[in-house]
Amino acid sequence: MSVRILIGAQWGDEGKGKIVDILAAETDVVVRYQGGANAGHTLKFDGKTFVLHLIPSGIFHPHCECVIGNGVVIDPFTLIDEIEKVRAMGVDPAGRLKIAATAHVILPYHKALDKANELAKGEGKIGTTGRGIGPAYVSKTARRGVRMRDLLHPEALKAKIEEALVEVNQHLASLYGAPTFTAEELLPDLIEAGKTLTPYIIDATDHLHHALESHRNILLEGAQGSLLDVDHGTYPYVTSSSPTSGGACTGSGIPPLAVTNVMGISKAYCTRVGNGPFPTELHDALGEEIRRIGHEFGATTGRPRRTGWLDLVALRYASRVNGLSELVITKLDVLDTLEEVLVCTAYELDSAVITRFPVDCDELERVKPVYERFPGWKQSTVGITEWEQLPETAQTYIRFIEEYLKVPIRIVSTGPDRDETIILPA
Ligand code: GDP
Ligand code: IMO
Ligand code: MG
Repeated sequence: MSVRILIGAQWGDEGKGKIVDILAAETDVVVRYQGGANAGHTLKFDGKTFVLHLIPSGIFHPHCECVIGNGVVIDPFTLIDEIEKVRAMGVDPAGRLKIAATAHVILPYHKALDKANELAKGEGKIGTTGRGIGPAYVSKTARRGVRMRDLLHPEALKAKIEEALVEVNQHLASLYGAPTFTAEELLPDLIEAGKTLTPYIIDATDHLHHALESHRNILLEGAQGSLLDVDHGTYPYVTSSSPTSGGACTGSGIPPLAVTNVMGISKAYCTRVGNGPFPTELHDALGEEIRRIGHEFGATTGRPRRTGWLDLVALRYASRVNGLSELVITKLDVLDTLEEVLVCTAYELDSAVITRFPVDCDELERVKPVYERFPGWKQSTVGITEWEQLPETAQTYIRFIEEYLKVPIRIVSTGPDRDETIILPA
């Protein structure tokens, strides 16, 4: 039996969808534990590409149960749309998709607040995905949230929304001059969505405890990345949830001692979408080239992703915060044409060399990366499935990462497709 967590070890978009889809072949239950439709997890197989936002990335394996855990914030309309899209791919989620009754609902006013907040911040905006994530988690922690189970009880739902709207409308109108909402206009669609989702809504934590007792293989699928964690990320340029390993437990009800593996996933370089410090960012033609070769455009918003060299200081920090037991490196092939590959091993801060990752954004904005340089391999690694087939220079690069982090590398990804993958022995 295994209970694995797969966590983005950078600023998101590391290729979690692809790797969860691969690991799902040997998994009974895949669980999303935080975030919402801000996530865009891309899966590619049999010549088809699919981007999942809320449904766990095990859905295309007919034996796999997919649970949306209590820690996720769910836009019910996006979820219904996604269920339909999955159906159109010939896969029926009925009976396999389970939604935690205690997961919180993203309501239209959360999205309005998200957009209004960002607009008001102007230059200083976070660069959110506009999916209402932050305001939905604010409602949750302020104990004024609506949960999935509430969609099934129209009278109670009405009362909760009316109560929430007192403050929400005040914010929208007086702070932002934005349009307000009434419960009457929101309720019909929400009640309808509740009816559609009824068969999926369960006590997910109880369900997972039974799965644990039955010794089923469980995989907890993180969204976003460790450096976007509300506690451990580059605050305030973060998301509003806990993608790190602790969040996997609170967002599912699976206890820490049940977890057998914590897998971190990192690109062979680095990207970030949205604002905030990014020490190894490339602002030049090379950064543009990596964006072009790596198709670095957001899977959710289509925004260009910022690109840069792999940052081992940040990655080691992510490894420590999560307690990584193994590592996955993706998008090695994107570096195939480069003359030279750089990797950041320390920072210069106020003329001192440091190897800790500053949690203070002002400090992080000031650091200058110290680089180790590697010769490029200058040959295609696309689709390679055996370690021995990798050019020696590429092997050296990967082994360097492993040695620096002292975390074994288990998977190297050499293309977006399910099959374009090297699995290393444990
Ligand atoms: P996620 O949010 O972590 O699931 O990652 P995204 O799906 O947002 O972004 C990863 C992108 O890289 C997707 O377009 C994937 O199809 C693609 N991808 C994943 N692994 C590889 C790889 O090894 N090589 C290449 N070239 N693309 C990859
Ligand atoms: P996946 O799961 C990359 C970023 C946004 C913004 C910040 C806050 O596909 O890796 P939010 O809408 O969450 O309030 O935005 O977080 N962000 C992501 N960046 N991948 C993601 O998800 C992200 N989800 C949010 O760009 O900087
Ligand atoms: Mg993504």
